Order: sequence, then C-alpha cells, then structure tokens
Amino acid sequence: MTESTAKLEFGGKTHEFKVRSGSVGPDVIDIGALYKDTGAFTYDPGFTSTASCESEITFIDGDEGILLHRGYPIDQLAEHGDFLEACYLLLYGELPTKAQKDDFDYRVTRHTMVHEQMSRFFTGFRRDAHPMAVMCGVVGALSAFYHDSTDISDPHQRMVASIRLIAKMPTIAAMAYKYHIGQPFIYPKNELNFAANFLHMCFAVPCEEYKVNPVLARAMERIFILHADHEQNASTSTVRLAGSSGANPFACIAAGIACLWGPAHGGANEAALNMLSEIGHVDRIPEFIARAKDKNDPFRLMGFGHRVYKNYDPRAKIMQKTTHEVLGELGIKDDPMLDVAMELEKIALTDSYFIEKKLYPNIDFYSGITLKALGFPTTMFTVLFAVARTVGWIAQWKEMIEDPHQKIGRPRQLYTGSPERDYVPIAKR
Ligand code: SDX
Repeated sequence: MTESTAKLEFGGKTHEFKVRSGSVGPDVIDIGALYKDTGAFTYDPGFTSTASCESEITFIDGDEGILLHRGYPIDQLAEHGDFLEACYLLLYGELPTKAQKDDFDYRVTRHTMVHEQMSRFFTGFRRDAHPMAVMCGVVGALSAFYHDSTDISDPHQRMVASIRLIAKMPTIAAMAYKYHIGQPFIYPKNELNFAANFLHMCFAVPCEEYKVNPVLARAMERIFILHADHEQNASTSTVRLAGSSGANPFACIAAGIACLWGPAHGGANEAALNMLSEIGHVDRIPEFIARAKDKNDPFRLMGFGHRVYKNYDPRAKIMQKTTHEVLGELGIKDDPMLDVAMELEKIALTDSYFIEKKLYPNIDFYSGITLKALGFPTTMFTVLFAVARTVGWIAQWKEMIEDPHQKIGRPRQLYTGSPERDYVPIAKR
C-alpha cells in the first residue's frame, strides 16, 4: 500500500503527516506528532472529524446506511443468528462453529446468577428510583463481588469478567425491573436461551408457570442484536477512556451505562416514546415538526438524526419490521403511537429541513413502541439498550487492552480562561 502524506503549512513551515488507509472507509491523517512538530493542538469538540482508535470490530458507512460487525451486515446477523452468536462474533472476530457456539452458550448460561448478597444491594434504593440509576450502582458494585476477575493484565481474568458481564446484565436488569414494580426476583433458568431467559426473569411470578412466547423471544433476541455494538459512540468511547487508565472492567461498564443514559444517546428510546405520547395524535404532528425546526425551541424530534448516519439507520428498518411482527403477534391492531410514529416519519422525510440536514429515523425511533408492546415501562427502555450494548463495550474494551500501543487517553484543550494573575486578599476585593 503506497504511503501518502498530508502537508500542513503552519508557523511558516511545511509539516508532513502520514496518511493511513483502513480496510474500508475514510483514510486517517496520523497527527500524533502534530504538537511536538508545531506546538499546536487540533481542535474538534464532539470529535466530529476525529478517529480515536484503530478497530476491527464494527464498521459504519453513514452515507450509505451500512453497519457491519466483523464484516457481516447487521440485517444478516439479525435475520439468521441469535444474540450470543453475535456476542461471540464481536468478542472473537469470527462466527462460531457449532462446538464453539455450544461451549460459549454453556459458559454464559452458567454465569447468569449473581452473588446472592447482591439482592440485598437493591433494597437500598427507593422503589421509584429510575432503573438506570440502579444499573449504574449495581453494575459498578460488581467489582466488589467479583474481584477475582479484575486483574486486566491476566487474559483469563479478562475473559471471565467479559463472560460474567454479558451473562449477568440481563439478570441485574430484570432484578432492577422486579424491584421497581415490587415483585420478587426471578432466578435465571438454564434451559432458556438469552432473550427467553430475560423475558422469563422479567415477567414470570412465583405463583404460576410462565411460558415465554417464542415469537416475542425471537423479537427480543433481534432487538438485542441490533443494539450490540456501534463503533466509537459516546458510551463506547467512555468505556475505552475509563479502561485506558487500567480501571477494572466492571467499573468501565458502569461508566458506559452512565453515558448511555443521556437522551441524546441511549436515553433517546425512552424520550422518543414519551415524545410520541406527548404528540398523542397525528393532528398534532405539524406543531411538533415546527418546534423541531425552531432554532429558539430546544425541542428535538427524539429518535431522529445521527452523528454518523446521514441516511436511514439500517437498524431502524429492521426495528420497524420487528415492531409490526410484535404488534401482530400480540393482536394489537391500531396502536395510536405507531400511527403517530409512521405519520411523523412520513412527514419528516418529505420536509426540506430534515432532508437538508439529513435527519432520518434512528434505532431509537421504533424501539420504544416495540418494548412497550412487550410489556416494559419506558423507564426500562435504556436498561435494555445497556443489556445489549454490554457485549459491544466489552469487545471494544478487550481490543483496547490487548492493543500493544495502548496508552491512557488524555486530550488537551484550547484554554480561553484568565492569564496568570496574583491573589487578592478578601479585604481588598
Ligand atoms: C444513539 O453514536 C451512535 O452510534 C449512537 C447510537 C448507538 O448505537 O450507539 O446510534 C445510539 O444514540 C442514536 C441517537 C439517539 N438520539 C436521538 O435520537 C436524539 C435526537 N437526535 C439529536 O439529538 C442528534 O441528532 C444527535 C445527538 C443524535 C446527533 O447530533 P449531532 O451529530 O451533534 O448533530 P447536531 O446536533 O449538530 O445537529 C445537526 C443539525 C442541527 O441543526 P443546525 O444547528 O445545523 O441548524 O441538525 C439538527 C440540529 O439542530 N438536528 C435536529 C435533530 N437532530 C439534529 N433537529 C431536530 N430534531 C432532531 N432530532
């Protein structure tokens, strides 16, 4: 591959920087030596033009609306595989053989229980605590229960921590839900697959047998696959930055959960459903479209727009199909929120404001309708996103830790504060 360079005229000199090409996607200009060579920093708040790392895990082409995990298109993975197959692929780079898949399923399944003392941990929270607040606290506390898998220099401990996190997140999420609604915790059942086990832990009660609906379980698997990983999004970047200091994986994932909670990121699925119910009826859509376009109104159409996708989010298409499947299976004919969502999408996609700014529905636009139909309260939507994204966070964390060139992330700044000045005693102020 021919080496090319980028030239920068700065401070009366010409500086050259190496240009590197990936396997697909945009080239990068390696500016690692920029400050040493020029005494200047780059400036890119929000990292709109900055590659923070090299990765082999997920590729997104925002213009074409393409999402690949280790080269496999998301629609094929969502159609043909299950969530633990996607987990194996993200973690190890290849689709598993039957033997590898059976072994991985076995290992994850047998880590789904949490330390019995953790159940007491929940009782410290108010029942009306937001489940995401509970997730931040309980997942962060995992390192207090599993310190035998916190030595990040030990590949075996890294693997055990990864399996524990993937396996225990659904159990902790279900416990957060049960605690929220005042019902007893339900233990995992090893004979159920990942999504079926999760639905069982959320909706079973000790008083009667709970049969998981296979159509809903399949939909739940697909929803988890769609949310598994997404390149260097805000929460993944948070996990990488936390991990770069050597923090244990449980603490890093707790940091990722905290970041995901924001309405601009994973919290958008909860915000999108709340927005649809606030709109309430298709007649009120023009009012909200006008607000979304009004520069003086902070209101945004939740579930619309994306930093990378300037085309339809490929996950949103699959999500929309899953929404119809779930509503059909549950015999929900006319869901007013779905009517509002579909009409809102139709209007927005023909409106010049959204066309010019390339604002399309993202994965959060339809997920809320589906999750509500499955029986989850809106406060649980981002929790489900975190359950799925844990494998992406862990795979990216693992890739960073195993990178021989890895170093602590420490950005610089453009300082615009006061130059040096002397202290003034209070009597003289
Ligand atoms: C997720 O990064 C990922 O990969 C995230 C994610 C993942 O899987 O990890 O895909 C999951 O977080 C999806 C995004 C969920 N968030 C939302 O749906 C919240 C609503 N969307 C926006 O807040 C916004 O679109 C962001 C945060 C998603 C992206 O913001 P950017 O890239 O910083 O873009 P921007 O805020 O600079 O907006 C560009 C323009 C602005 O107008 P101008 O200032 O140029 O005039 O578009 C406008 C914005 O005002 N705009 C919107 C809008 N989103 C952007 N206007 C109305 N409604 C919106 N939703």
